[in-house]
Amino acid sequence: MARSPDSFAAVPIKAVVFDAYGTLFDVHSVASLAEQLFPGKGDALSQSWRQKQLEYSWLRAMSGRYKPFWDITRDALHFSAERLGLPLPAESERRLMNQYSSLSAFPENLGALRALKAAGLPLGILSNGNRDMIEVSVRSAGMTGLFDHLLSSEQVGTFKTMDSVYALAPEAFGCRAREILFVSSNCWDAIGSRWYGFTSFWINRGGAPLDRLDTEPDHTGSLLTDVLPVAKPAAA
Ligand code: LAC
Repeated sequence: MARSPDSFAAVPIKAVVFDAYGTLFDVHSVASLAEQLFPGKGDALSQSWRQKQLEYSWLRAMSGRYKPFWDITRDALHFSAERLGLPLPAESERRLMNQYSSLSAFPENLGALRALKAAGLPLGILSNGNRDMIEVSVRSAGMTGLFDHLLSSEQVGTFKTMDSVYALAPEAFGCRAREILFVSSNCWDAIGSRWYGFTSFWINRGGAPLDRLDTEPDHTGSLLTDVLPVAKPAAA
């Protein structure tokens, strides 16, 4: 069940916008291929790959040195393989990067998205991913047609948590930021979106601790299905 701080001043939600990686698509679904390629090291590679990918996005955003997410994802893979002492011939790199474009969706996601859509809420994705990465992932997860807008940080040449990235959503949906429920399983992104002005929802699937950034997400739940009662109280 979703938990909300008492101080939350509710406004009617006019659209629901999702982060992609980690929220809709499981970035650690690459671990099984990684494990096949590097027995005993698949999990470590997957964890390091994701962490480094995020670090590169933050550093490049801070210093105004944008490089598309696909490319920083490859950079993070090379760094992580070297850190773990794993050889990465071109064929292994290609297979791992290809996995990244067909990540598994979390099991409850498709049903939760359909329920939100059936409740009449416009839906979108707002991701650091390149637009073509997002499109391929949406198609391979069977989510085609569910989203009204696929928004990529590529459009503004930087990454979250920069305001210009979050600003893409109110502009696309034609409503105020607070009227958008922004859903992310990355706590820093849920908090960043609230700094910007969204109503934010943190999907905390693994019971992670709250990031200490002096702001809490407006809502917290453990599954994507927890979003519906918050987005559309009457439909729950
Ligand atoms: C994204 C990353 C942050 O999809 O997961 O934007």
